[in-house]
Amino acid sequence: MSHATAVRPVLDLRGIDKSFGPVRVLHDVALTAYPGEVTALVGDNGAGKTTLVKGIGGVHGFDAGEYRFNGEPVRPRSPRDAAALGIEVVHQDLALCENLDVVENMFLGRERSNGLALDETAMEEAARRTLASLSVRTVGSVRRRVSELSGGQRQTVAIARAVLWDSRLVVLDEPAAALGVAQTQQVLELVRRLADKGLAVVLVSHNMNDVFAVSDRIVALYLGRTAAQVRTADVTHRQVVELITSGRTGDLGLPA
Ligand SMILES: Nc1ncnc2c1ncn2[C@@H]1O[C@H](COP(=O)(O)OP(=O)(O)OP(=O)(O)O)[C@@H](O)[C@H]1O
Ligand SMILES: [Mg+2]
Repeated sequence: MSHATAVRPVLDLRGIDKSFGPVRVLHDVALTAYPGEVTALVGDNGAGKTTLVKGIGGVHGFDAGEYRFNGEPVRPRSPRDAAALGIEVVHQDLALCENLDVVENMFLGRERSNGLALDETAMEEAARRTLASLSVRTVGSVRRRVSELSGGQRQTVAIARAVLWDSRLVVLDEPAAALGVAQTQQVLELVRRLADKGLAVVLVSHNMNDVFAVSDRIVALYLGRTAAQVRTADVTHRQVVELITSGRTGDLGLPA
């Protein structure tokens, strides 16, 4: 039996449409993501990846289509709604607060109180435990301000926040775009560990090496439409590049 029929998807989008005023950005988009797997979302600049990610994360709604999470139809109206469902999005324009430290960022909006004061000790301990569970050793003190962290360290904090809150689905929009080689490697390893913990991960990336290194499935968007959903093991780099640049690839037998 194939994985697709044996395991219920965490995220199942079908027939998704989204316009901004007169501009139709997404048409009839489908995307399915499974627990324990990394699903790469690929497509050229402007293909609609971030628009799709923001809809998943409740930043904006979709105009039409089915959005199912753990089999149930959902309609998150804000990032807070999405987080309450177990959906955590690390946005392309990374949403951490520069002037706060690592712990404060990880608990932002969900601070733990022990009655009168915030329970700093408990939050610090939970932040440290979460980073350790992901084998993150590069951040140093959890009391460092995010403004002092490198791009890779910031990504790590954003990802750890998703794990801390017991998310079922983590969506990362180009987490490695601004990172160096070593940091990219660390973020990719972290992405893999998230999936190995049983989460469903959707990774937006332009980098074919990263996509092939870490993903189990690939969803290609072309001009706001789903050009293909394939298993990574079933395709070559060249085929995926063809899907991104022309929306089809003859030798996959996909429709023109
Ligand atoms: N708020 C908005 N209002 C109007 N048009 C928008 C808005 N947001 C995005 N678009 C348009 O939607 C299209 C898709 O944009 P989107 O950011 O989703 O692309 P993307 O695939 O993430 O691209 P990139 O790889 O460059 O990040 C683009 O043509 C963009 O100009
Ligand atoms: Mg984008």
